[in-house]
Amino acid sequence: MKHILFVCLGNICRSPSAEAVLNTLIERNRFENDFQCDSAGTAAYHAGEPADFRMKQFAKKRGYNLTSISRPFDSKLDFDRFDYIIGMDRQNVQDLKAMARHENDRKKIFKMTDFCFNQKYDSVPDPYYGGDAAFELVLDILEDACEGLIRKLRSE
Ligand code: 4NP
Repeated sequence: MKHILFVCLGNICRSPSAEAVLNTLIERNRFENDFQCDSAGTAAYHAGEPADFRMKQFAKKRGYNLTSISRPFDSKLDFDRFDYIIGMDRQNVQDLKAMARHENDRKKIFKMTDFCFNQKYDSVPDPYYGGDAAFELVLDILEDACEGLIRKLRSE
């Protein structure tokens, strides 16, 4: 079983969506015994809150149900609980690396767009102050990256 944690800033837009997209792929392909995922934020501003209502609406249109509740990344527990810790942008990756306790933690940190095979973005841009297109773009990138992630993990 491989454990994957998606991480963004607030854990109300990008990483809960990544979690829902990956969970849909896991269910569709019957990979429940192979992969498990969760999400967290590098900031605790929204801790205890459900996902952003706009993100929920755009996700719902594509069949994804965002159910997660925001929680902050916990370096004392999460580096040990998860095998892959995947930030949505360069800042998330930088913040995670700053919390890593040693090389073994650092080796678990990746950026979501590293797994894309169609989309040519080098981050999943923060949609919080954006319009409709920003939320659609998040989902476009995440769908591509989650496909790539499953392929990579299955080949390992
Ligand atoms: P997320 O989006 O990191 O994808 O969950 C954001 C959510 C909240 C804020 C920024 C980004 N904020 O500044 O409150």
